[in-house]
Amino acid sequence: MDLRKIRRDFPTLNREVGGKPIVYMDSACMSLKPRQVTDALVDYYTRLGACGGRSVHKLATEVSIKYEEGRERHRRFVNANDHREIVFTRNTTESINLVSQCLDLGKGDIVLTTDREHNSNLVPWLRLRDTKGIVHVPFKSNEDNTFCLDKFSEFMSRKVKLVSMAHTGNLDGYTIPAAEIIKIAHDHGALVMLDGAQSAPHQHVDVKKLDVDFFAYSVHKMLGPTGMGVLYGKYQLLESFPPYLVGGDTVETTRYDSYKMLKPPAKFEAGLQDYGGVIGSAAAAEYLMNVGQENVHAHEVRLSQIITKGLSEIEGCQIIGPPSAELRGGINSFVIKGLEPHDIAMILDEVANIMIRSGMHCVHSWFNARKMRGSARASLYLYNTEDECRLFVDTLKDVAKSFA
Ligand code: ALA
Repeated sequence: MDLRKIRRDFPTLNREVGGKPIVYMDSACMSLKPRQVTDALVDYYTRLGACGGRSVHKLATEVSIKYEEGRERHRRFVNANDHREIVFTRNTTESINLVSQCLDLGKGDIVLTTDREHNSNLVPWLRLRDTKGIVHVPFKSNEDNTFCLDKFSEFMSRKVKLVSMAHTGNLDGYTIPAAEIIKIAHDHGALVMLDGAQSAPHQHVDVKKLDVDFFAYSVHKMLGPTGMGVLYGKYQLLESFPPYLVGGDTVETTRYDSYKMLKPPAKFEAGLQDYGGVIGSAAAAEYLMNVGQENVHAHEVRLSQIITKGLSEIEGCQIIGPPSAELRGGINSFVIKGLEPHDIAMILDEVANIMIRSGMHCVHSWFNARKMRGSARASLYLYNTEDECRLFVDTLKDVAKSFA
């Protein structure tokens, strides 16, 4: 991985604020965008600009072709069997909502998540509990937030209809043993959805090898444009789903009193789509595949090792999730006794342009259960450097010494 070359692709990293470079460590929230992605977006908006899937003129035809090329690029990105298994959505949240609304779940059916889910994989199930009487079970993690397969095996029964879990947690960076979980769930007749918002951008995900039924991810966390997401679903399952949003381009034909739905994925892509977004997201997937997702993961672990060691040297500092950087990828979430997470984030930004996230990271349930006000979280990506991690550690040590 040629880090210097990679960094040149990200104009934001070459900016200075107040005469100092930017140290961006908030990629779990939103990744920066390389020129290859913004060039693809600009190309759509300046050279094309037309609609896809409808008109037959040359511009529209080119947009339609590029749109479907984008789908094929994402098929390759997650190694799906068939391009029809890739549905474009706005984000992971919408992908999960689509599944929650379309799956045939009823009174007493159990949906099992972990106890460390983002609100996007919690609220849809709480809503179904309220509206349809399903039972939501937040499966308890080990003390260090890792997953216990033995307890999971014991818990599973035919009553569990869906296991829906964060593949990699945005709270702590821990990646669950997905292949084993999926095998056990399938042995009990349950479907499995993985929330891949924090895994797809940082490691190679092979939906075919995992045999996962649904995989949801956001493009804005994987170098792509905002407002773009993907839902992978096994074709037969998508085909069995009722419509979700309906309207233009979801139907083959209509009469005043009837309509005939198209097959997936068109069935789920209602109205004019984000053509620029899809074209930009194809460029993002291509960029990551060229760098190699395994290289991205290895790089992030190396960087997290520096941060983990630094955090262990700060008195009163506690890492959320497993202590080993190997188990947390690029996410370093922590609290320091006597310091508010938001204060840590604001001071780091103020004194050294180090940009991290603080608060509950949309995992309120986990923090509320522990009466905690949140954590500070430094989340890394392929463009971060060892020097940046050392600066982060040194600055944080000074902050802790002066304010904690
Ligand atoms: N899920 C995003 C995060 O963890 C918003 O920051």
